[in-house]
Amino acid sequence: MKQFLYLLLAGAIALCACSRGPEGSDPRVEKLLRKMTLEEKVGQTVLFTSDWSVTGPSMREGYIDDIRQGRCGNIFNAYTAEYTRKLQEIAVNETRLGIPLLFGYDVIHGFRTIFPINLGMACTWDPEAIERSARVAAHEAAAAGLHWTYSPMCDICVEPRWGRVSEGAGEDPYLGSAVAAALTRGYQGEDLKDESTLLACIKHYAAYGAPQAGRDYNTVDMSERWLREFYLPPYKAAVDAGALSVMASFNELDGVPATANKHLMQEILRDEWGFRGFVVTDYTGINEMVCHGYAADEKDAGRLAMNAGIDMDMQSASYFNYMVDLVRSGAVKESTLDEAVRRILNVKAALGLFDDPFKYCSPEREASETLTESNKQEARLTAAQSCVLLKNEGVLPLRKGARTAVIGALADSKDDLLGSWRGASEVRSVPASILDAIREVTPAVYAEGCKEMGEDRSGFGAALAAARGAEQIVMVLGEDCQWSGEAASRSDIRIPGVQSELLEKIAALGKPLVVVLLNGRPLDLSAESVTAGALLEAWYPGTMGGYAVADLLFGDVNPSGKLCITFPRNLGQVPIYHYAKNTGRPYVHPEAKYESRYLDVPNEPLYAFGHGLSYTTFSYSDITLSDDRFSADGSIEATVTLTNTGDREGEETVQLYIRDLVGSVTRPVKQLKGFRKVNLGPGESKEVSFSIDKETLSFYRADMSFGPESGEFKVFIGGASDNVKEASFSYEE
Ligand code: NOJ
Repeated sequence: MKQFLYLLLAGAIALCACSRGPEGSDPRVEKLLRKMTLEEKVGQTVLFTSDWSVTGPSMREGYIDDIRQGRCGNIFNAYTAEYTRKLQEIAVNETRLGIPLLFGYDVIHGFRTIFPINLGMACTWDPEAIERSARVAAHEAAAAGLHWTYSPMCDICVEPRWGRVSEGAGEDPYLGSAVAAALTRGYQGEDLKDESTLLACIKHYAAYGAPQAGRDYNTVDMSERWLREFYLPPYKAAVDAGALSVMASFNELDGVPATANKHLMQEILRDEWGFRGFVVTDYTGINEMVCHGYAADEKDAGRLAMNAGIDMDMQSASYFNYMVDLVRSGAVKESTLDEAVRRILNVKAALGLFDDPFKYCSPEREASETLTESNKQEARLTAAQSCVLLKNEGVLPLRKGARTAVIGALADSKDDLLGSWRGASEVRSVPASILDAIREVTPAVYAEGCKEMGEDRSGFGAALAAARGAEQIVMVLGEDCQWSGEAASRSDIRIPGVQSELLEKIAALGKPLVVVLLNGRPLDLSAESVTAGALLEAWYPGTMGGYAVADLLFGDVNPSGKLCITFPRNLGQVPIYHYAKNTGRPYVHPEAKYESRYLDVPNEPLYAFGHGLSYTTFSYSDITLSDDRFSADGSIEATVTLTNTGDREGEETVQLYIRDLVGSVTRPVKQLKGFRKVNLGPGESKEVSFSIDKETLSFYRADMSFGPESGEFKVFIGGASDNVKEASFSYEE
């Protein structure tokens, strides 16, 4: 019901805020458009960085003069109530028309209070918690003068080499859509005019998460069918949730850079999905079309972008330099520019900026709403929920009061807990490293052992000595936090440096040993999954991450995270994801040669999508179906009884997967179609039901129409994609 109300509301905001053509447009916007000179119109399509935070190449100085001359209507990377007010005063009081500026910033997983990186957040499988995290971020950022966040990042990714896999919700379109919608609702709240909300920006549209070989900014190419089925749904979900801006991705798709891709920007986004906000480029995306070999020069690139439906130019200065000429020469119609300006101004109106351009810059709220105890508490709970217990051979929870050795450079780092894209947070706002938090619970001896990178083994001796004197050992291993995020691709996904070598030596002591992992991508853990007694994937857990990890290690909180992305055995298995097809030669006979398999490694991943352990155990009954067939206007219920078979309370994420056995195009062997989080006390049981209807079975059929096909289906329910119960039913169109 709540979801439904949100959708209604989001739809209403979208409809009244922005329009195609003057109908439905805010009258103040239409009045302005009639008064604006060509130069002033172009100014509204220009977005420059203040360079306060550097998130791309520095291009130009002098943005303050540009604002004053009405030639730059939007600024990013500037924040604080005081500074944004100063800039806003120039725009409102010193320009001819006084049109307020729009302030954007990368508020990705928090602004001052940092939540886990988004890949971790998706492992909560908890849209409500994710929505709350975005509310916290919006409160903090909006009080600091910001109107607009470059989130949600909706890029589906099955490529762990790509550093930006850390910024998304993983491999799955169903879960990814739930996360994208939750973030949008959290940022935009119930009314964009509310001073504590942020305009969401859906990025990076489209398919930026599929760069060839995992190298950032690289070429993307895939069939239209694959794009629509697996990559587009999260962007669409955010549009449906009411997001009013979209960022074009850097990559090309089918040979055309997204920044000039009419198929994406006009046909799909606006004509099919009914998007009514504005589209901004990514950083210098217009100029990059020259390097792509798609535009002759930066002026031509500007023409291509504007004519493809790109309303705002982030940082290329192509619109700034050439758009007036392009319109005068007829290369761009003035009505096309007008439409872009209309979309941008209507979003400014929706944010309430024409009512009060200063209401977002509030020093009082900035002081009182930032890093509050309740924000930090929310971040601590979400961080604990985001961690995934990959393995536990009776090592966890650790004993409080027992002598503990803590080893690894990352254990003593507050900085790494924040991950990349850490908003405007400061390391000094992190109250505890993992080591500090452990020390609040139990006596601990610390030895660095080695750094995350490099060959230096000189600390091994001290680490071994610390481990020998301890009853239990915590090693914190992984990647430096700048090893994921933008421009942080790797060609090797093993734990870097000599960390694993140290782990092997420590493990040889035979003591209870847990490895806590800090990293921003699925890693090859084939060695560590054997040596460590327990593996806890903690991602980069944010401001309160030290405490959250300690809460889990010592059992104050029971782990409940589930993987939102598959962990391969090694890089050779990539891409590996749970919605794979069967192929014509599936590997079923152990000795067979001519079947789809590797000779040196099993086909199965090391840790499957949906996997994640708890300190309690759960059992699933067989599936009961309300009927074994249904037709177009009906539905059936698939039900399991979930029982907590352990001796403590715990939370399980029950997952629903579907297989369509025969289709007009081939279908995945398993595809996520639903999930539910269930909390159970020891010994308690609960029935969990999923409704299956034609929507659940729909896909892009051979003729590219979207819908179900008659035939036989399998339904799977379980606690991980590789651990499910199974039943069959048929569907009749
Ligand atoms: C480039 C990144 O690709 C994008 O995600 C980000 O929002 C912009 N820079 C602005 O910082």
